Amino acid sequence: MNVPRHIAIILDGNGRWAKKKGMPRGYGHIKGCENLEKVCEYARELGVKYLTVYAFSTENWKRSRDEVEGLMKLFRDYLKKCIKISEKWQMKVRVIGEISAFDQDIQDSVRKLEEFSSQFEELHFQLALNYGSRNEIVRGVRNLLVKCQDGEITPEDVTEENFGDYLDTAGLPDPDLLIRTSGELRLSNFLLWQLAYTEFYFTDVHWPDFNREELVKAIEQYNRRDRRYGGIKGEKNV
Ligand code: FPP
Repeated sequence: MNVPRHIAIILDGNGRWAKKKGMPRGYGHIKGCENLEKVCEYARELGVKYLTVYAFSTENWKRSRDEVEGLMKLFRDYLKKCIKISEKWQMKVRVIGEISAFDQDIQDSVRKLEEFSSQFEELHFQLALNYGSRNEIVRGVRNLLVKCQDGEITPEDVTEENFGDYLDTAGLPDPDLLIRTSGELRLSNFLLWQLAYTEFYFTDVHWPDFNREELVKAIEQYNRRDRRYGGIKGEKNV
């Protein structure tokens, strides 16, 4: 089985999963978070090198105050716990998105975790928090314009190859496989630039139920794809 080097996942369906069980949405997020820990482990074990997950979008602030507060608590706890997890799975963690919108203690935890885990290389784990692809692209373009204004670069210096250096994902290979759980068939403003050549896999399974078997199923499906430009990415570098 050819394991994709980089898998991106839109974690969806925590709320519906909880509702089906007659539980509050927050319970679904707790279970979703637990599942994320497990999926990192499965990914690493299967040989995935990069895993990028969409945990909180720029749109998610519009949810009820209760739900947003519950999620903030979950992020707080998780970011602290993740120091140990990163060491256990030798996982380098990077948070992508505009984190300046979070409370200072969350921002501090993010920096601490990124700094601590920067020594690890086994799995590169990107957590998208307050992330929106259009927001990321606009921030990148602004940085680029400032450099231009300062005379560090000229407009001609910007190319398809180096534009990615201005994005939060700078230095990472583009995802080979995108998975979205819970039956929605949308990108929801996730990695619009980076997913240009990525294979998409959609499943009806809600995120808390997305287990190792489901991950393997997604990878097997990826292996069956007839890549128009020849072979599976990574095998022939297309
Ligand atoms: C999708 O389910 C989940 C979210 C929008 C955010 C929460 C993500 C997690 C709890 C997992 C990661 C956790 C941490 C701490 C990094 P949904 O609420 O959109 O479900 P629904 O579409 O069924 O309502």
